[in-house]
Amino acid sequence: QNITKIALVGFGTVGSSVAKLLHTLNLPNLRLTHIYNRGIAGKRGSAEAAFVPADAIWTEDIEDLLTSDADVIVELMGGLDPAGPWIERALASGKSVVTANKQLIAYQGPALLAKAAATNVHLLHGAAVAGGVPVIPGITQGLGGDQITRISGILNGTCNFILSKMEAGARYSEVLAEAQSLGYAESDPTADVGGFDARAKLCILARIGMHVELDPEQVATQTIALVDAVDFAYAKELGCTIRQVSRVQLSSTSPDSMYARVAPMLVPRESPIAWSHGTQNMVVTTGRFGGDVVFSGHGAGGEATAVAVLSDLLAVSQNSRPVAFPVTPRPVTGDSVAPHYLR
Ligand code: HSE
Repeated sequence: QNITKIALVGFGTVGSSVAKLLHTLNLPNLRLTHIYNRGIAGKRGSAEAAFVPADAIWTEDIEDLLTSDADVIVELMGGLDPAGPWIERALASGKSVVTANKQLIAYQGPALLAKAAATNVHLLHGAAVAGGVPVIPGITQGLGGDQITRISGILNGTCNFILSKMEAGARYSEVLAEAQSLGYAESDPTADVGGFDARAKLCILARIGMHVELDPEQVATQTIALVDAVDFAYAKELGCTIRQVSRVQLSSTSPDSMYARVAPMLVPRESPIAWSHGTQNMVVTTGRFGGDVVFSGHGAGGEATAVAVLSDLLAVSQNSRPVAFPVTPRPVTGDSVAPHYLR
């Protein structure tokens, strides 16, 4: 039996959960062999380290992983640099990569996927969108046979946690701090509340589902930090609540462009999007032939995200490849009819 040797880059909330799931599921063909992190002494002495095999190599030198015999690099540190150059080197040297890095995949996905194809290895990023909800494999493998015309929903667990608690009367600053302490927020939570995390995910979904390449910087993005208790009171009078909604579809005003927006929006209470609470993510795809499909589940948190990583690792170990559709660059417009009201 072929053993897939796994090297983890980052032993934080998600990385330690990956080690825990690998230990708990005990899949005979997946083996954790290397762990890279800064300040490794503290990590190695932590309770989470109990799930790491005794013979795994802990290191603060990335070269130890890139020059090792590991088959897959699991990148969980986030950010464009140095994660990007490290992933490029891993792919060039014939290692597959599994990553949760949405910013990197949103900005550099096509170039990195081309590099992976050139050396005939995998670059999988199921954990980059909606944590434990299998949106990426669901769209690529399950909906490749449809023509998706719209993707909308909730793509940031932290914002959903904050807004659904504010709806119940909590204060913004307190729930943001709680989301941070529970490990849902990014290291800089501005990415969550400002909408930059969700817009990266939206661009990735547009690419895999609608085969269009959007520049994340062009996506109209509005913060939830200005939403106040009084807004929820007004929303209630209108039969609505407020959620951070991400949406991409063909523009109704300029046919060659895509409408794309991430913003706090009024959501009618009868919409399934209004029912999502806590870290729940929800993605609704509209297909020309198959109609609406809803994906829903935990979009943030160590264990939920680790499920997506493990699933990608299994796909790598089975050498199963997603369909690669050609992708076309498209300009983005943020304006459309009723941008703040979700049907
Ligand atoms: N900070 C992200 C969120 C983590 O809250 O959704 C998952 O990508």
